[in-house]
Amino acid sequence: MNNNSYESDQLLNEYLLFHYGNPSEILPYDFGPIDALNFPYRCVNECLDHAILPKEASALDLGCAVGRSSFELAEHCLEVIGLDYSENFIRAANFLKDTGKLPYQIKVTGDICMPAVAEISSEIDRNHLSFEVADAHNLPSEWNNFDVVLAANLLCRMHDPRQLLARFPGLVKPGGQLILTTPHTWLNEFTPRENWLGATPKSDQPLETIRKEMAPSFNLTDCRNMPFLIREHARKFQWSVAQVTLWRRL
Ligand SMILES: C[S@@+](CC[C@H](N)C(=O)[O-])C[C@H]1O[C@@H](n2cnc3c(N)ncnc32)[C@H](O)[C@@H]1O
Repeated sequence: MNNNSYESDQLLNEYLLFHYGNPSEILPYDFGPIDALNFPYRCVNECLDHAILPKEASALDLGCAVGRSSFELAEHCLEVIGLDYSENFIRAANFLKDTGKLPYQIKVTGDICMPAVAEISSEIDRNHLSFEVADAHNLPSEWNNFDVVLAANLLCRMHDPRQLLARFPGLVKPGGQLILTTPHTWLNEFTPRENWLGATPKSDQPLETIRKEMAPSFNLTDCRNMPFLIREHARKFQWSVAQVTLWRRL
């Protein structure tokens, strides 16, 4: 299950920077797409609907990587589970939960790196969190009725994303919320072409394809574009635009 690129130390360092780096560490220029910074923070703090969040809410962060959105969810929810199938990512997230800090390396160029430290804000109660290695295709059957489910940029990294769409009605409590983001970057190495959502010439548009799968159980409450920036090294970046859809469980 874990023979994949998300186990590499290179991606571990890239994701620690993506999730915890400060703006000048990620983008060391006085120009560039600054509105694409802080994506894992914005997934929670710009997308969570506080008006419908119960007092002692539970949350599930699917494909949490090194955990930044899970820590942000813990500011608002009493119980948060972060899940990823990368053991390396979950080891890092658990270290951050236990100690609040994790040293890592920011790539400058070639073999040249500079040291950095990922840090969790002291405002966040780390006791509210747990992190687990698991496959989003095959979630424990007792996992049901979360008040909030976040799946950020996971769908187009799954072998069969429809399997997760079909699991959402059980995962989200009636009246609860689902935050789904995807840049629709479909690649055969992760998802066989026949499982792509709205990305082949004869299929519906991506949003329509997802809406049809969700329609019996969810209302689409908002749809927006959210840019994000992943630094590979000091002079190379991935700038992407996620389609963010917000859903309310009927
Ligand atoms: C593109 S990254 C997004 C990470 C994070 N949500 C974010 O927005 O930065 C996709 C993540 O999903 C994880 N992943 C991919 N397939 C998965 C699966 N079947 N079950 C659980 N996690 C998976 C990867 O290990 C990786 O951490």
